[in-house]
Amino acid sequence: MAADLSPIDKAKFVAARRAVDYVQSGMKVGLGTGSTAAWMVRCLGEMVREEGLKIVGVPTSARTADLARQVGIEVVSLDEAKWLDVTIDGADEFDGEANLIKGGGGALLLEKIVATASDQMIVIADAAKEVLTLGAFPLPVEVIPFGWQTTKALLEETIESLDVLGHQTTLRMTGDRPFITDEGNYIVDLHLQRIGDARQMALVLNQIPGVVENGLFIDICDVVVVGHGDGRVTVRDVTAGTQEEETMEFVESDNLFRDMGD
Ligand code: A5P
Repeated sequence: MAADLSPIDKAKFVAARRAVDYVQSGMKVGLGTGSTAAWMVRCLGEMVREEGLKIVGVPTSARTADLARQVGIEVVSLDEAKWLDVTIDGADEFDGEANLIKGGGGALLLEKIVATASDQMIVIADAAKEVLTLGAFPLPVEVIPFGWQTTKALLEETIESLDVLGHQTTLRMTGDRPFITDEGNYIVDLHLQRIGDARQMALVLNQIPGVVENGLFIDICDVVVVGHGDGRVTVRDVTAGTQEEETMEFVESDNLFRDMGD
């Protein structure tokens, strides 16, 4: 129950709870992936079931689709929705300009497609995800399985010429097999430590033929909702150039905290 949540989970929860204020009846909503996004999906589900909120959701992964259906959100494909009003998603890192590293959960490709197809992208994160310079979190790059070792070698050659501190690359594994994304691809994680020019890196990586997409989200996010373990929430609107802080009332809901699975 709520009282048993760790400070980090409380931070994720209050960020998610605040972010769903952006969702109104009639909207088409992109649903992110990860533990913070799972809170957001549960909050929206509660609003659908108990407040009559009418939305359709476009999930960014199979696991988010499962959760959304489970909590009562109508799920449609991006092709059915075509364009979305808002996407709410987590992040692995964000900087002062709301540029992001995403893909720690392996869903970066659909997350980037869905966020880009939205009028507004809102990131929800605990305060520990904020960095001065992106890159401490390994940068995920989705690659097609065909010739992946060649693609990995090309990635290594490419990052040699870029402004980074680390140069190690690793194929993401699940046990003794490569991790497979929802689209059937592999992920190579780039251990860069510090990315001097994230904008340049995002463009250059995608020039390598076997690369499908990289986890740098540059100029995509509009609002960052940062949660803290004591219930404070900071809302940074990058487009409007505003920042507001408030403290969320931590209301426990039996429905919301039941069957927490993520
Ligand atoms: C999923 O692929 C990622 O982009 C997630 O958004 C990211 O890993 C954040 O996950 P948590 O909310 O679980 O930290």
